[in-house]
Parts: sequence; structure tokens; C-alpha cells
Amino acid sequence: MSSIIDSEEKRSKSFKKDSSHLMKAITVEPKNPGTEKYMEIPEPELTAGSILVEAIAVGVCGTDVEIVEGKYGWAPPGQKYLVLGHESLGRVIDPGAVSGFKKGDLVVGIVRRPDPVPCPNCAVGEWDMCRNGQYTERGIKEIHGFMSERWRIEPEFAIKVDPSLGILGVLLEPATVVTKALEHIAVTGRRSFWEPQTVLVTGAGPIGLLAACFAKIYGLDVHVLDRAVWGAKPDLVRALGATYHSGSVLDIGFEPDAIVECTGVGQVISDSIKQIGANGIICLTGIGHGGASGSASVAEIAAAAVLKNNVVVGSVNANKRHWYKAAQNLARADHNWLSRLITRKESPENFKKALQRTPDDIKVIIQFSEV
Ligand code: BGC
Repeated sequence: MSSIIDSEEKRSKSFKKDSSHLMKAITVEPKNPGTEKYMEIPEPELTAGSILVEAIAVGVCGTDVEIVEGKYGWAPPGQKYLVLGHESLGRVIDPGAVSGFKKGDLVVGIVRRPDPVPCPNCAVGEWDMCRNGQYTERGIKEIHGFMSERWRIEPEFAIKVDPSLGILGVLLEPATVVTKALEHIAVTGRRSFWEPQTVLVTGAGPIGLLAACFAKIYGLDVHVLDRAVWGAKPDLVRALGATYHSGSVLDIGFEPDAIVECTGVGQVISDSIKQIGANGIICLTGIGHGGASGSASVAEIAAAAVLKNNVVVGSVNANKRHWYKAAQNLARADHNWLSRLITRKESPENFKKALQRTPDDIKVIIQFSEV
């Protein structure tokens, strides 16, 4: 083992000799709004992983916006700033001594790392189900993210992307969140006889649209509900062969077997619990705030769930099984359709524009280099 580390150190030093010791990165001081910067920081340390990767693109999501607004996020222990970004795509520059990767491979980095205790779930590789909250997450919680010109990754946390996906590989991280949610619905459903046919997805952002796409791949009758009345979102839903609804969940005209809730809006959640079919499962993936007014009381929601044997299940993050499956789902999806999800590409210098959402945005990415 120590000889592998020695030879890794030699490789790393030789790389540093012919390159600068600094690189540019998008950073933020968590819990301190207005501190986001595109600045020079040291090249990633070998301790961050034996594979050296050149960044191609990083997707921006609501969590990044929350971190920049000072509402979420943690810097690595003893450091002031956090390199932002958890939806990565990069090209291997140096695969390290033993990694199973080669120069030029397209890779995406897994976001979460198991807690150090570890809790029983982290001990068996289910870090997405960590019980003690001591997990860490790249670009979110105590480990630098991927919005830097170069980043390092441990071979066991790097996922190879089908080369035919090209830039679409940047959708892999949100695809893992969706793949886990659909898996948990399926597993929960098997508590009784379960032959789901209809699924409603609430919210036509990147998570909702990927959920619709994968549910279609799984052979379900897919419905998507969003506020938008026209534009790219309804068009994308129809292009999948799914049905688009705008307005209230209570007006969709059927009782879904499963609902993938991607808005985090209180009213949509309580309406979903009223509208779901008997034995149906609602998977919550959105993280919302406020919205208590107009929603049913907790007791009413609970009564509706009890009387129809419903399950409301929360789902966050993803483990390696979901990453593997999501990479397959993404490779199977219509690449032309997937490319329509990326509605804007910004340069790293323009990262502040990437963090501002416009009504036409679905997925905005920051592009560091060409594929
Ligand atoms: C990421 C997850 C992460 C969650 C909470 C989401 O935006 O996609 O990987 O677990 O934020 O930090």
C-alpha cells in the first residue's frame, strides 16, 4: 500500500512540475451571503483522490443557490471557503497508478462520503441513508466540490460515463437522485400486491423531467404537473409521450399509483396526499420552505394516508447502486431529448449569471472546457 502511495506522490509531483500550482475555482464562504468568487486556489491535494480530472462542466441546482445565499453548506474543517458544485463532468488527465480508469475517460464524481463512525448504513455502502448525519458531501458539506479547473477523485467514488453522452453526462448526478426515488417507490410498493400503472410527477424542473423520462423507460403511464402553461416544459413532457397538466393536483382527473413530488410546495404536497390512489406511494424529493397557509392540517393529511394505506417517503442523495443504474438510465434515454434539458451554458467567469434563474431555465451548466 505504502509503495502505491509513494508512486502516487511521485506522479503528482511530476504533474505539478509542468503545471502551475494554482487553478481557478468558484468558491463561497458558507453561511456568509455575497462571498461567492471565481478565484485562484491551490491545485487539489493527492489526498482528495488518486485520479486527476480536468473539469468539463458542472450543473447548477437549487442547493448551490441556497449555499450562495448563505442558507446551507459547510466549508472543509479549518478552511474558510468551500469550492461549490456537486453535479460534475470531467475528463481524466491522470488516472493514477491503479484505478481502472484511463486518460481521456469521461467521469462524474459521487457526491456523498460515508460518515467516519460509520453508522450501520454507511458501513454497508448506503451512505445516502446515513443515520448520524456525519456524512460529508462534495461541494455541499465539508469537502470541496467540482467547480474548479481540475479536481481529484478516489477511484471508488468515480463513475465512468458512456462516451456517447458527451456533455449530457453532467445530468448524471440529478439522474441518481431520481433513480433512487423511483427505486424506493418500487421497494415500498412491494409491501403488498403492487402493479403500478400510473405515476404523477409534480414539478417539471430537471428532477421532475428526468423522473418522467425514467418512469417512461420503466413502462409507466406518466403524467407531469407544473405551473407553466406553455413553453419548453410542456413540450418536453409531450415529446416523451407523457401527459402534461397545469393547475391543481386535485384536478388531474385520476388517482395515481405513485407520485414523485419535486416541488417542495406545501399545497402541492397536501393535494398529492388527497389525490393519490389507495395503497399509493408519494415520494418527496423537493426541499421547500414555508407554505403552511392553505394546506390541509397535519391530522387531515394523516387521516387521508391512514384510510388509503398510503406511504409518504422522503428521498435524498444516492448510493453507488443508484449511480450505476442512473448511468444506464441516462444512456438509454433519447439523447436528443436530454440535450433539451440543458437550456443555458455559462462560462466560469459568468458563474453569477448561472446562479440566477430565469423562467425559461431547466438545467443551467457552467462549462469549463469542451467535451
Ligand atoms: C444533492 C444531494 C444532496 C442534497 C443535500 C442535493 O442537491 O443532489 O446529493 O444529498 O442536496 O445536501
